[in-house]
Amino acid sequence: MSYFADKQDLVADIFSRYPDSPQGRRSGLMPLLREVQDAEGFVTEERMHEIAALCGTTATEVRSVMSFYSTYHTVPTGKYHLQVCSTLMCALAGSDELWDELVTELDVQPGEVSPDGRFSVQKVECLGSCGTAPVVQINDDGFYENVTPTKCRHLLAQLRADHKPEPDNLVPVKVNNQGLQMM
Ligand code: FES
Repeated sequence: MSYFADKQDLVADIFSRYPDSPQGRRSGLMPLLREVQDAEGFVTEERMHEIAALCGTTATEVRSVMSFYSTYHTVPTGKYHLQVCSTLMCALAGSDELWDELVTELDVQPGEVSPDGRFSVQKVECLGSCGTAPVVQINDDGFYENVTPTKCRHLLAQLRADHKPEPDNLVPVKVNNQGLQMM
């Protein structure tokens, strides 16, 4: 089923931002991808073909753009999508150990969603805060810096209680069956 068939005004609005030319139409690719990603959480092969047809390009080009940006997903993600920077500065600061801690603790691998639907994980390239490595991003916002394995466990405890802490408020917590309790 088409995603954009009943959204012609939206499509027209997106294309109106660019020159009325074949190249201009291709510039609509990323806003159209963003629209689908925000609405459905990921972009299927069918949606890639639909976007390609609208932009006058190929599904291969759409897939290629998606593969360049870790923000786009081809499979469903969890409520909390944890992205661990694996570029040099973070690797030197322990992001490999952090990653191991994360996948072991959550028992989830890239491309999977934890059985409770809460978590998915992904290694990503530099998140632009190399001075505070290692860095973890959750969903499209929330950058957590200097994430040691201990901080990571605290973060997971809070997320399991559906409490997403402010990045600068990543403090130890205790979680019991009465709910979340700050230490
Ligand atoms: Fe990880 Fe730059 S290397 S934020």
